[in-house]
Amino acid sequence: MTETLPILYVPAPILRQKAKPVGTGDADAVRALAEKMLATMYKAPGVGLAAPQVGVGLRMVVLDCGPKDAPAPMVLVNPELVAASQELAVREEGCLSLPNQFADVTRPYRVKVRYLSLDGAKQEVEGEGLLSACLQHEIDHLDGKLFVDYLSILKRNMLLRRLAKELKAKVRED
Ligand code: NI
Repeated sequence: MTETLPILYVPAPILRQKAKPVGTGDADAVRALAEKMLATMYKAPGVGLAAPQVGVGLRMVVLDCGPKDAPAPMVLVNPELVAASQELAVREEGCLSLPNQFADVTRPYRVKVRYLSLDGAKQEVEGEGLLSACLQHEIDHLDGKLFVDYLSILKRNMLLRRLAKELKAKVRED
């Protein structure tokens, strides 16, 4: 079994910081991190996880937006949004760093993302629907952005207050 990592919750400061590009010299460390991040994501369970969520300030995300019976893990190093459709879509989102909190978020329906594979090869992925939302949500994490930032202030504050209350209750239980 691959080791899993503790997931950081809001308001951990690293979740609001801009992550640094992965350098070319870190291949082994990055590969090991990717494996742990995937194991952490599947265990949670979640469909995406960004390195800052496990306390690592590097531009790397893992995701699996495929059907449950057909695992399709993806690792994106230094991902970059290069195109987004005019067409928008509303989708309910959650985040492993804001456990049990969900809200509708409006984003471009289709996006194109450029990234490096773990071997350092240039790759491109185009996604729509869930994959598109997932790619955008995870890349946002690398810029310190969270899905609640797309909500009205009122809704965001309500959700963050509820989260803080739930996390406090959880600490008391533990
Ligand atoms: Ni998230």
